[in-house]
Amino acid sequence: MHKLKVAVIGAGVMGHGIAEVFSLYGNEVYLYDKYPDALEKGLKNILWSLNKLKEKGKITDTERVFSRIKPVNDLSQISDAELVIEAVSENLDLKSSVFKQVSKIVSKDSIIATNTSSLPISELAQSVENPHRFLGLHFFNPPVLMKLVEVVKGVKTDDLIFSKGIEIIKSIEKVPIPVRKDVIGFVVNRILFRIFTSACKLLKEYSVEEIDSLAKYILEFPMGIFELLDYTGIDTNYLISNEVRKRGFDFTCEILKELYEKGYYGAKVGKGFYDWSN
Ligand code: 3HC
Repeated sequence: MHKLKVAVIGAGVMGHGIAEVFSLYGNEVYLYDKYPDALEKGLKNILWSLNKLKEKGKITDTERVFSRIKPVNDLSQISDAELVIEAVSENLDLKSSVFKQVSKIVSKDSIIATNTSSLPISELAQSVENPHRFLGLHFFNPPVLMKLVEVVKGVKTDDLIFSKGIEIIKSIEKVPIPVRKDVIGFVVNRILFRIFTSACKLLKEYSVEEIDSLAKYILEFPMGIFELLDYTGIDTNYLISNEVRKRGFDFTCEILKELYEKGYYGAKVGKGFYDWSN
């Protein structure tokens, strides 16, 4: 597959990682964020990660990989992107406004994708001109280490675009999970959201640490359930839980609201269920 000109919209927890992965595999990447400090932070996180990969001998030339990433804070600069991946926060209006703008900037044949974990592709497609070229590419956190990516077909997604999405994911040495049913939670989160809901219910009787120990040392999860909620973001999970509950999927965790309202967004701000500041 030829190298692509990729644009990632949103330099946050997921966006920076997605940009990093595509640059690792030789693609030129625009990394866009409306907020300069968010863009700065995203670039710093990419550099941290690339140096970690170098430490482990997984890559040698961090500068070369990093140089393929072009930070932009004016969307008009991504006009020659062949693939756009939206990774802004889980807010329907915000995502829709991104798709409306991007549809007018890139070629009508460019693929537009969303990294959404909770919003129906077919709903988001309503804001995309030529929705046949729109699909879900749902990465997992951290994108550079997680092998799976869900490739989600909306009702209007062309079969050809869906197959192209699968090829693109294979070209960055990830394992595509083809998702032909555009249902809430796609595949992985249909399970994960239920795990979160059950763990939150247990908080009435057990502590965060007790439940996380059970997950890590009995169920052998790579990290605790509340650690994972911190890691993927209390804000992200709180917004997701509201969106999916609106659409009839039970992802309920009252304490997320409490933490969110205190600004305890998890690892990214140093405070969530746990203290990540050290
Ligand atoms: N880039 C490069 N290296 C990284 C990295 C990154 N982004 N993140 C971690 N590493 C490195 C660490 O530096 C560490 O290296 P070191 O030992 O030399 O310091 C090594 O990887 C291990 O990392 P940690 O020490 O932090 O601890 P772990 O061994 O637990 O690995 C983890 C971290 C890979 C995140 C592991 O805890 C894990 O796999 N957790 C589960 C993640 C998961 O479930 N993700 C999916 C979440 S759901 C989701 O994303 C869906 C969405 O819709 C919300």
